[in-house]
Amino acid sequence: MTSYKDLGLVNTREMFAKAVKGGYAIPAYNFNNMEQMQAIIMACVETKSPVILQVSRGARDYANINILRNMAKGATEYAHELGYDIPIVLHLDHGDSFETCKECIDNGFSSVMIDGSSLPYEKNIEVTKKVVEYAHKYDVTVEGELGVLAGIEDDVVAEHSHYTQPSEVVDFVSKTGVDSLAISIGTSHGANKFKPEQCTRNADGILIPPPLRFDILKEIEKELPGFPIVLHGSSSVPQEYVKIINEYGGKLKDNVGIPEEQLREAAKSAVCKINIDSDGRLAMTAAIRKYLTENPGVFDPRKYLGPARDELKKMYMHKNLDVLGSANHA
Ligand code: G3H
Ligand code: 13P
Ligand code: ZN
Repeated sequence: MTSYKDLGLVNTREMFAKAVKGGYAIPAYNFNNMEQMQAIIMACVETKSPVILQVSRGARDYANINILRNMAKGATEYAHELGYDIPIVLHLDHGDSFETCKECIDNGFSSVMIDGSSLPYEKNIEVTKKVVEYAHKYDVTVEGELGVLAGIEDDVVAEHSHYTQPSEVVDFVSKTGVDSLAISIGTSHGANKFKPEQCTRNADGILIPPPLRFDILKEIEKELPGFPIVLHGSSSVPQEYVKIINEYGGKLKDNVGIPEEQLREAAKSAVCKINIDSDGRLAMTAAIRKYLTENPGVFDPRKYLGPARDELKKMYMHKNLDVLGSANHA
């Protein structure tokens, strides 16, 4: 059993309370490798932002839980070396079972998500409650989810997603004891959130997707005043990265993400954790494709991963400063 406290990590409790009061959101950035972790830490130290290092089940399969735990420990030491001890959480993203959550808690994670959102309501309560009971023994915080986000495939959007029902949130939170709640108000996972034909164009010709359901968010806030709310699927799919990727041999669709102004608005509410993964993937891929095309003779991975890390850092700084508002809150 490794306690996150011995790794220099913190849970989300105090971080979220401050964010809700302060009208900003903590960035939850997914990572799978060293360059992503370095970029996150550099950006968050430089902007003095608290941060959640987020590990999906895919990341665990890819990178190994022992390596990821030690990378998170390394992240705290790296931040210290860079000159500022920002609060860092190591969080399991989309935990699928009690066993997965327990394994992460036993391996030094300071926060876990149990995603029972696709289960029948009573089953979601049952598994979430079980995770909370175990996690709280070790002062690990737990995120639950109500409502279903759309998947990555365009065609499943309407079929499988459904918004969180405000009438259920008090019952769910009080029966499970969760520390935060992920909700569904129109965001979705991946880089293909909205097709051009689902959008309108503004005066500058920019595609604007249907707005998030702020009315549902307000209802939820009324039911659970001051309770930490989480938004998944919050990448904005920067069109400049899509353009670079396609210019340099990629074949991404012309789809768009969540406009940054809407995320800024959400961050001012009880939304205190905003999950961003796809934008990091796009930034890295754009930088690597461009570098390798322009430098066909290069085969040293540091030569193309370095610029990718620089681009990631720049993007994360922008999110902290201009979108989530988490800068200067560490
Ligand atoms: O919410 C899902 C995250 O974007 C993680 O995706 O399982 O491909 O690592 P992944
Ligand atoms: P994006 O695919 O929009 O980056 O969402 C990431 C996420 O919600 C991770 O849990
Ligand atoms: Zn998610």
